[in-house]
Amino acid sequence: MLLQIPDVLSADQVHYFQTRLAVADWVDGRVTAGYQSARAKNNQQLPEQSAEARELGDIVLSALGRNALFMSAALPQRVFPPLFNRYEGGQAFGTHVDNAIRSLPGSGERLRTDLSATLFLADPASYDGGELTIEDTYGMHRVKLAAGSMVLYPASSLHHVAPVTRGARLASFFWLQSLVRSDAQRTILFDLDIAIQRLNGKDGAETEAVQLTGVYHNLLRMWSEP
Ligand code: NI
Repeated sequence: MLLQIPDVLSADQVHYFQTRLAVADWVDGRVTAGYQSARAKNNQQLPEQSAEARELGDIVLSALGRNALFMSAALPQRVFPPLFNRYEGGQAFGTHVDNAIRSLPGSGERLRTDLSATLFLADPASYDGGELTIEDTYGMHRVKLAAGSMVLYPASSLHHVAPVTRGARLASFFWLQSLVRSDAQRTILFDLDIAIQRLNGKDGAETEAVQLTGVYHNLLRMWSEP
């Protein structure tokens, strides 16, 4: 499932992020790349342990915790602390697949990357290029979203970021391990959840809504790996 989640951050939060990131110290993005992706990657990142990355990352995580669409679609178990990147002056990230396993900073605990997320932080009119292109069996999907909006996609997908030829593209990106490993099963649960929410708003459908909610939880019990 490839899902756009609008307005993860408010306009005020986006403005605060842009102000903080404008004066941050950026480093070569290859610091978090694996062997293959380091050859394709040409961008800048905030150091993982920098004060800005930790502070802004926490704001992203708490916004996501309150976002019903994200919680329903991702069913997050463990989330990697959000990272931040910037592309400008022709910088790009060639086609690659994200590492399957990541070590969580600090604890060293491991996380399986089921889903990848990119939260766009620059006004799309302020830069040219920089589309995130995700490949799946339905073709190529070009994504360039409003500042504050996010795309969630299976981490197993090949993807690339087109060269930024004017202005600067700012984004936060991270991975997560889901309670439900299979993208197909997670998609069924998400579709069912949306249908139940629609049914909940209808008079005379209470019994059916309760029964389907039971089905949802029984599927989640069967498919989740806590
Ligand atoms: Ni990637």
